[in-house]
Amino acid sequence: MRRILFLHGPNLNLLGEREPEIYGHLTLQQVNEKIAAFAAKCKIEPLFFQSNHEGQIIDFIHTHRREAVGMVINAGAFTHYSYALRDALESVQLPVAEVHLSDIHRRETFRQISVIRDVCLAQISGLGAESYCRGLEVVLGFLGRKELQQAINETANADEAYRACVKILKRDFPKYNWVGIYLVEGNELVVHNYIGAPTPHTRIPIGQGICGAAVAEEETIIVADVNADPRYLACSLETKSEIVVPIQGRRIYGEIDIDSHTPNAFHEHDQNMLENMAKDLAEFLDAAE
Ligand code: SME
Repeated sequence: MRRILFLHGPNLNLLGEREPEIYGHLTLQQVNEKIAAFAAKCKIEPLFFQSNHEGQIIDFIHTHRREAVGMVINAGAFTHYSYALRDALESVQLPVAEVHLSDIHRRETFRQISVIRDVCLAQISGLGAESYCRGLEVVLGFLGRKELQQAINETANADEAYRACVKILKRDFPKYNWVGIYLVEGNELVVHNYIGAPTPHTRIPIGQGICGAAVAEEETIIVADVNADPRYLACSLETKSEIVVPIQGRRIYGEIDIDSHTPNAFHEHDQNMLENMAKDLAEFLDAAE
């Protein structure tokens, strides 16, 4: 199983008793249990470490750098001034997400500067224990894109590239309950391949449904509550939210469509990752035409 490091910096050992109005009521062990449950669903083995000592955190990163595929770090106050930690994160060349329990941008000014931000994929702050789960998704998104790029480099076949994309996304994101690719054929979208419940919508006219709207508008559409959107064409009664990302190069080739049983499941980092993957596919398809 792929291993990801989860690092907690100074004072996080006191979670639950330290300013619970800011940091929440969960103890560090309870936070780690939440992370472990989520990581298991993503088929990731988490390796946890907490220290109040800068050097120990750096040593831990060095020691485990080759056995891990990525890192999620809540560096606590080290975030704001530890250039040594920043350099350690940069040196080991692993994808890293910076996370914080509280919203550091709504607190003291000294907390608004992060010296590790530029060596991390993203900064996620203010979601409590959920920040770590989002951080894991960011790391998985980076790794998934690399895997897609490798699959694209190893094939001359567009069908294989589409299938690799669907397979990677369905495997790594438990909240993605239905993942598929639709291709533009004339005035219609035709389902190419998908993983999830069978859909009655194998052909969708451009302009209809969320799928048809994304192609007509040439942009990503996120629907936080499908039942509140009159455009929505139901695939499964369990679906609560949806994202559709056009695969657009010199023309629109198709789109990535994802349904979730979780309301409001799709965030900025989902959109970034999926738009990057769609761009990789589009560049490949442009070159092949
Ligand atoms: N919900 C989509 C239709 C496709 S199924 O979700 C797979 C839509 O509204 O366009």
